[in-house]
Amino acid sequence: MARPSAPQPALNGDLQGAKPPGMAGPQTGPARAGALARAEAPFAGPPDPSPPVSPADRAAERILRADVRGEVGRLLDERHLLKPRPEDETRIRILIRERVSSYQRNAAVTNTPLIHDPPGLERRLFDGLLRLGPLQPLMDDSAIEEIIVNHPRRVFCIAGGRKRLVDDVVFDDDEEVRQLVKRLVGPLGRRLDDSSPMVDARLPDGSRLNAAIPPATTRWCAVTIRKFILRAHSLEQLVPLGTLSEGAAHFLEAAVQAGTNIIVSGPTGSGKTTLVNCLGAAIASPEERLVTVEETAELSLEHVLPDCVALQARAGNVEGTGEIRIRDLVRNALRMRPTRIVIGEVRGGEALDMLLAMNTGHEGSLSTLHANSPRDALDRLALLASMAEERLTGESLTKLVARTVELVVQLRFEPRTGRRRVVSIFEVTGLESGVVTGNELWAVDPAGDRLVWRGIQPRCLAKMDARAVPYVLPPSPGDRSA
Ligand SMILES: Nc1ncnc2c1ncn2[C@@H]1O[C@H](COP(=O)(O)OP(=O)(O)OP(=O)(O)O)[C@@H](O)[C@H]1O
Ligand SMILES: [Mg+2]
Repeated sequence: MARPSAPQPALNGDLQGAKPPGMAGPQTGPARAGALARAEAPFAGPPDPSPPVSPADRAAERILRADVRGEVGRLLDERHLLKPRPEDETRIRILIRERVSSYQRNAAVTNTPLIHDPPGLERRLFDGLLRLGPLQPLMDDSAIEEIIVNHPRRVFCIAGGRKRLVDDVVFDDDEEVRQLVKRLVGPLGRRLDDSSPMVDARLPDGSRLNAAIPPATTRWCAVTIRKFILRAHSLEQLVPLGTLSEGAAHFLEAAVQAGTNIIVSGPTGSGKTTLVNCLGAAIASPEERLVTVEETAELSLEHVLPDCVALQARAGNVEGTGEIRIRDLVRNALRMRPTRIVIGEVRGGEALDMLLAMNTGHEGSLSTLHANSPRDALDRLALLASMAEERLTGESLTKLVARTVELVVQLRFEPRTGRRRVVSIFEVTGLESGVVTGNELWAVDPAGDRLVWRGIQPRCLAKMDARAVPYVLPPSPGDRSA
C-alpha cells in the first residue's frame, strides 16, 4: 500500500488516503498527524510508550471495523453494547480474532501488506466496538482525570491538573467521534443530532461526558469526559491528599452532623463535587433521609448512606417535552420527606428553592457553586436566586442568604501542583447595612501551606451542643497540630 507522502494537518477537512490494495473498503488516510501536531502542540507531554500504528494496520482496521460492527449489531442489543456482559465480550473477541485471521490469510495470498500487529489491532477493534474506541487507553490510565477532543486529531488529556496533547490518539474523522458519542449516549436515552446538538451523560463507570456538534460548535464534534476518579470517600481521606488539615476535617464533620447548611464554593474542577460527597458521607445516621438532586448524577452517596435517593435532571426531547428541570426535582425532593437535600450545583433559579428548603426544616443541606471567595459565593447565591420566576428583590434575597447559609467552604485548584485544597471556611453571622457578615474560622497560614484555626468562637458550636455532636475546639490560633 502506498504510504501517504506527508502527514497533513487535517484541521481543515476530511482525511485523504489510499484504498488498501486487493480489498474493497472505505477511503483510508494518514494514520497519524503526530509530527505536525507535536510541532504545533502548545502542551507537549512526555512521549507515549505505545508503538505507532502502521498505515497498513490502520487500513485493515477501517475495513474490519465496518465488517465486525455490522455483525456485532446483530449479536448484541443497544443495552449490551454499552454494558456488555462477560459472555458478550468473549463472543466479540472470538469474532474479531476470526476476522483478523481471515484478513491476514487473504493478504498473504493476494500479496497485500500483512497486519503488522494483530493483537494491537484486535484490541483497537474491540475498544472501538464495545468501549471508548481510541480514547480507551486514556480511560484505562488511572492518572488521567479528563479527556478532551476538539478535533479528530486534537485529543488532550489532563493528569495531575496538567493538560497535554496526546498526539497518537486519533480518530479517522469527525464522523467517528460522533458515532462514538451516539453509541455511548443512545442507550442512556440521550441523543446527539442537529436538533439536540449538546448532550450530557453519565457513563456506566461514573465518568461524565459532554459533547457538542454544530450548530452548537462551529465545526467539529467537541467532547469532554471527566473521569470520575473519586479520590476520597470521606473527609478523613482528603487529609493525606493535602486538601485540608485534620483539624478542619474534624470541624467540618461535626458541623455536618450538627445539621449546618454548607455551601462549597470554588472554580471549575477544584474538587467541589468530591468534597460534597465526602461531607455527605458524614451523614451516616439511619435517622437521616437524604435526597440528592443533580444535573448529571455524580455523587455516590446512595451506596454509603442508609437512606438516600438520587434524582437526576433531563434535557427535553426534540418535540420540546420530557424535560426534567432541577427546580422541579428540588420541589419533588421536598415531597419525599427528606431530612436534608443535596443539590449538586446551583446555577440558576434553583438557588431560591434550595435556600427556602434549607430555611424550612431541611437544615444540614449542602450544595456547590462556582465562585472565587466565600463572599463572592454569598453574593452569587443571592444573584442566582433572583433568576427564579418569583422575582424576589435583591434585598430580601440577601436577607434570606444571611439567615440560611451557615458555612461556606472555599476550594482552590493549584495549577503548579495539581492540588485541590480548602483555603477558607467562612461562617455567616448575619446582616449589617444590607451586607452579609461573617468570620473566617479556618484560613491558610501566612506561609501558605496549612489550613489553620483562627481562634474565633464559631456559632455552629451551639448547634453541635444541641445535637450532642462531640467536638472540641482546637486549643489556640495557628496551632500546628490543628
Ligand atoms: N481533593 C482532591 N484531591 C485531588 N484530586 C481531586 C480532589 N477533589 C477532586 N479531585 C479530582 O479533580 C477533578 C475534579 O473534581 P470534581 O468533579 O470534584 O470538581 P468540581 O469542582 O466539582 O468540578 P466542576 O466545576 O466541573 O463541577 C476530578 O478528576 C477529581 O478526581
Ligand atoms: Mg462538580
